[in-house]
Amino acid sequence: MVYTPSDSSTNIAHKSQNFAFPETSSTSVSVFTSSIPFNNPLNTGKELEYIRQVISSKRTAGDGVFTKQCQAWLTQQIGCRNALMTHSCTAALEMAAILADVQPGDEVILPSYTFVSTANAFVLRGAVPVFVDIRPDTLNLDESQVEAAITAKTKVIAPVHYAGVSCEMDALLEIAERYNLLVVEDAAQAILSYYKGNPVGSLGHVSAFSFHETKNVVCGEGGALAINHPELVERAEIIREKGTNRSKFFRGEVDKYTWVDMGSSFLPSDILCAFLLAQLEQSDCIMHQRMEIWNYYHQAFEVLEQQGKIRRPVIPAHCQHNAHMYYLLTDDLKTRTALLARLKSRGIQAAFHYVPLHSAPAGLKYGRTAGTLAVTDETSERLARLPLGAGMTLLEAKCVAEEVLAFSHKVRNRRCLS
Ligand SMILES: Cc1ncc(COP(=O)(O)O)c(C=O)c1O
Repeated sequence: MVYTPSDSSTNIAHKSQNFAFPETSSTSVSVFTSSIPFNNPLNTGKELEYIRQVISSKRTAGDGVFTKQCQAWLTQQIGCRNALMTHSCTAALEMAAILADVQPGDEVILPSYTFVSTANAFVLRGAVPVFVDIRPDTLNLDESQVEAAITAKTKVIAPVHYAGVSCEMDALLEIAERYNLLVVEDAAQAILSYYKGNPVGSLGHVSAFSFHETKNVVCGEGGALAINHPELVERAEIIREKGTNRSKFFRGEVDKYTWVDMGSSFLPSDILCAFLLAQLEQSDCIMHQRMEIWNYYHQAFEVLEQQGKIRRPVIPAHCQHNAHMYYLLTDDLKTRTALLARLKSRGIQAAFHYVPLHSAPAGLKYGRTAGTLAVTDETSERLARLPLGAGMTLLEAKCVAEEVLAFSHKVRNRRCLS
């Protein structure tokens, strides 16, 4: 079979195609004329038009027309009390750490299997990240281990919704309420994911989203802070505007603006928000196309899971995920390394994921662990992420699946993967 890659400028008109699932015993090897990128976002076709409007208006700074429209979209879709656009999820997390009033020596409970920003945002305030293990099924913060990690210094629980699958929010919110802790959700990967029918971002006190190029809905670099706790809304606005009450001034609520609190420049240019609005408006289509690829992979690899060769993602019945990521858990590091090498040799960009924070140089310096982090360490060695994007075609997904199946066919079944 000759593989012809899709045009990288794939637009919203991209059509679904029906494919049979590859056979496990398939020995046919696709001939690649080009590579399959790990990430292939979709251009909706409206991005440039919206950016042109911003440039014509000569109002390119933050909090312009498009910023407000993005915030309105998020507030409506997520059902949060307020949403503030930021220039990254990292910025939104840093705002959350200031809002949480964490002081040097205060503790923040979070998974070690996450991106550095979840921890760094709090370390910048002098707080100590306390790393707790993840659940073996969803790879999210193990809520059953959180209470044991709480001390008199604990201020915040920062769950991360890995791969767009929600953490067990009922349990986490119950613990937070009992110990008077703030819940800062790292929802970088979880736009339009749901927990028990509620959008992720509508449950914790504050939630940080990412619109980085690798996420479902993108604008290059971008983020948002969703705020649910009414008392935090006004302060969040101030923190985002360099510690000033400029937002109040623009609304005509004060006759001049001044420095009232600590803060920084966390707001994005309206040019970024113009790009993002075009994406948000087409988010249903983006989700649909990602879900098609995700479901294709999931069915194609079912047989490998039955044979005990691979473990597929687990989605609890009460969680609706957003097809952010398709990963496989191999038997061990050696198998994962060989799988990634094989895919690379065929022009398929697959990737491992986080190096656990608790054993990273900065994690050792600034943080501590609570309990063993066995699942974290093991997951870090076994997890391989496959190409996925709304601009990807089912033909490309079929090629990826074929390669994984051909590789796995040669791997001896060593143990039943849990
Ligand atoms: C879990 C998590 N948190 C935070 C971030 C940081 O997001 P951003 O690049 O928008 O700052 C990422 C980015 O990949 C992430 O995956």
